[in-house]
Amino acid sequence: MKIVAFGASNSRNSINKKWAHFVANQFNATQIHVLDLNDYEMPLYSIDKEQEIGLPQEAHQFVEDIQNADLLIISLSEHNGTYTTAFKNIFDWASRVQLKFFENKKMLLMATAPGPRGGQGVLEAAVSRFPIHGAEIVETFILPLFNANFDVQNEILNETMQSELHQMLDRVMQKVSLTNN
Ligand SMILES: Cc1cc2nc3c(=O)[nH]c(=O)nc-3n(C[C@H](O)[C@H](O)[C@H](O)COP(=O)(O)O)c2cc1C
Repeated sequence: MKIVAFGASNSRNSINKKWAHFVANQFNATQIHVLDLNDYEMPLYSIDKEQEIGLPQEAHQFVEDIQNADLLIISLSEHNGTYTTAFKNIFDWASRVQLKFFENKKMLLMATAPGPRGGQGVLEAAVSRFPIHGAEIVETFILPLFNANFDVQNEILNETMQSELHQMLDRVMQKVSLTNN
C-alpha cells in the first residue's frame, strides 16, 4: 500500500508537514512519499496567466504524484481561517489540469496549529470542498495546541491525543484495509 502525505503549507519548518509525516509512519505502508509543496511553486493563478503560459509542468506533476497513492494523508495549515496561499495556488492550478484531481482517493484529512482550535476552520472548508474534487474522506483529525500536545524532537504525543489518534487510525485501516503494527 502506498501512502502520499503532505502538509498543506510551504513553510520550511511546517508543523503540518511534520505531523502528516508522523501519522504516515504509523501505518505499515510499503511506500511513503512525503510531498513538499515548495516543489510545486507556480505563478499566482489567474485565468490570464493560464492563457499566457498554459498549465505548468508542476501542476501536472502534483496531480500525478497524488494519483500514486492508495491513501492520501493531508494536514492542513490554517492562515486566517482558511488554506495557505501556497496550497490554494496549487489547488487552483491542479483543478485546471483535472477538476476531480482527488478522484478515487481515500483521504485522511487533518489539521494542526499552535492554537486551541487546531485549524478547525480550514478543515471544515476542505471537508465540504474536497469531495467535489473526487476525494473520499475516510476520517478527519485535529491536533490542537501542537507544541503542547506533540514533542517534535522525540515524536511523542500526549497520552490523551495518543489514544484518540490510535482509535482513529484503526478506523482508517478498517476502511482502507491497511495493516499496521
Ligand atoms: C498569516 C498567518 C495567518 C495565520 N492564521 C491562523 C489561523 O487563522 N488560525 C490558526 O490556528 N493559526 C493561524 N496562524 C498560525 C499558524 O497556525 C502557524 O503559523 C502554523 O505553524 C502554520 O502551520 P505550518 O507550520 O504547517 O505552516 C497563522 C499564521 C500566519 C503566518
